[in-house]
Amino acid sequence: MKQLANKHILLCVTGGIAAYKAAEIIRLFKTAGSNVRVLMTKAAQEFITPLTMQALSGNQVHADLLDTEAEAAMGHIELAKWSDVILIAPCSANSISRLAAGKGDDLMTAVCLAAESKTFFAPAMNQAMWADSRTQKNYQILIKNNFIPIGPNSGEQACGDEGYGRMSEPQEIVSEVATNFSEGLLAGKKILITAGPTREKIDPVRYISNRSSGKMGFSIAEAARDEGGLVSLISGPVSLKTPDEIERIDVESADEMFKEVNKVINNFDFFISTAAVADFKPEKFENQKIKKDKKADNLSMEFIENKDILKSISKNKGDLKIIGFAAETQDIKENAKKKLNEKSLDLIIANDVSDSSIGFDSDENEVYLITEKIEKKIEKISKKKLSRSIIEFIAKYL
Ligand code: CTP
Repeated sequence: MKQLANKHILLCVTGGIAAYKAAEIIRLFKTAGSNVRVLMTKAAQEFITPLTMQALSGNQVHADLLDTEAEAAMGHIELAKWSDVILIAPCSANSISRLAAGKGDDLMTAVCLAAESKTFFAPAMNQAMWADSRTQKNYQILIKNNFIPIGPNSGEQACGDEGYGRMSEPQEIVSEVATNFSEGLLAGKKILITAGPTREKIDPVRYISNRSSGKMGFSIAEAARDEGGLVSLISGPVSLKTPDEIERIDVESADEMFKEVNKVINNFDFFISTAAVADFKPEKFENQKIKKDKKADNLSMEFIENKDILKSISKNKGDLKIIGFAAETQDIKENAKKKLNEKSLDLIIANDVSDSSIGFDSDENEVYLITEKIEKKIEKISKKKLSRSIIEFIAKYL
């Protein structure tokens, strides 16, 4: 994350069990070349020691508003001015409440009042505390006051409960802060891309799949990242290296891809579905390998339809922009336009997969970009160049 190099990050750690994750946050910022200072509330120091934070950040920890020595070294106003970004992680319910009330009676709240830099906060608390209407009200007040939320996520909690309130993972938090410094046509935008084929199992050793290599999706992911986007890939089985700074989730079947996409889609601004999702899967998965002597005479297989990921997402799309691909062998534009409408897409990218010099497994492609109002042909070029043109088109028209 080169955007973070030499940036001044003030990490405020408040009281909560997720405080231990702040150590990893410091490490990630340091690896990216940032200069990190840590501010800890009294409660935070009950969960993790200032010594740990000092050792990791390489700077003395800030903790007291009223300590004359500490204030003389770097007072709250200077600390606020020093920071390019303030990140409060974990941010407890109590801290959210105190910040919403505009308090300034400890170092963390005083610095936040004095700061003009962007302030991010990563809520972390028990699910019931998060759901409480007072917490929700305070959270909205912070957002109105230009604090930028990161998370919380849903999942298992330290107390054994399940639900929203879990702090986002350190990598997610640092990536979010990084996008604040990114430049480019998609700066700060979150983009989810599916790529590659899916595999539909027949028995433990056999499956049905298709010729997709994943190259187009991975290449679009790199182009979106290069334009400042925060990119996540959900990929079927491919033999491609994960591009730098891109989060990747691997799946095998269409069902798994459906599940993963639906799990995270609410966090994104764009969904680009390049995956060649299998339309059908065998009705029955044989637990044991099908032996040839048993079935050789009369082997037939029943198929059932897989769920359409794009269709399911576009049903409740809200502000999400959705881009689909159409792999066609005939009547390319007509078929693509049909899919644009049927799947309520903002853009469809159509290619002719009957020509083996383009499309599947090739390094080149030739496509039509079709929206409700625009139709543009991009003649045969490398997938890398094509990806850049697609991203430029998306940034300009969507
Ligand atoms: N797609 C999807 N889920 C599926 C099938 C397709 O999300 N189960 C997406 C693909 O990623 C692509 C678009 O839908 O972006 C169109 O895929 P394509 O295979 O061209 O069309 P289908 O809808 O499967 O229709 P057909 O195979 O009949 O052409």
